[in-house]
Amino acid sequence: MLNEKTLKAIRNLEKDYPDKRSLVMGALWAAQRCGSGVLTKEDLESIAERLDISPVEVQAAATFYTMYNVLEPVGRYHIQVCHNIPCNLLDAEQIVAQVEKSLGIKNGETTADGKFSLTTVECLGSCGTAPMMQINDEYYENLTADKVDQILESLE
Ligand code: FES
Repeated sequence: MLNEKTLKAIRNLEKDYPDKRSLVMGALWAAQRCGSGVLTKEDLESIAERLDISPVEVQAAATFYTMYNVLEPVGRYHIQVCHNIPCNLLDAEQIVAQVEKSLGIKNGETTADGKFSLTTVECLGSCGTAPMMQINDEYYENLTADKVDQILESLE
């Protein structure tokens, strides 16, 4: 069930998207941002109903893009380290290893206090400043292991 804030956001988007199907990504984002931060099965079904498309189509979009948190909650800080080729050529694996070491979690896990989650993702469109990661809405670029520690400490 979508909350009123989400419905209002979707109504606003509908003005710009006469074809309801084109609204699926915006609707998913609104539901995630205006809700609990996690897209539930009920959210996906409600969006499908509202946009008059099948739940499978909504689920396909939601699970394709890493910006959506589908079914699984993430920590307050969602760390997404790019591991695509340009970032990997500049040692993204070292960045992942440093986050894992600093937080004591593995890729795909959340710290016990629910503060940090770590995932590796495909290109985030910032290849020129590789290696890089995104934490919530912020990009952190030209990373080194030391920089990773400084960033994580600033979030403690
Ligand atoms: S490959 Fe990492 S941002 Fe593009």
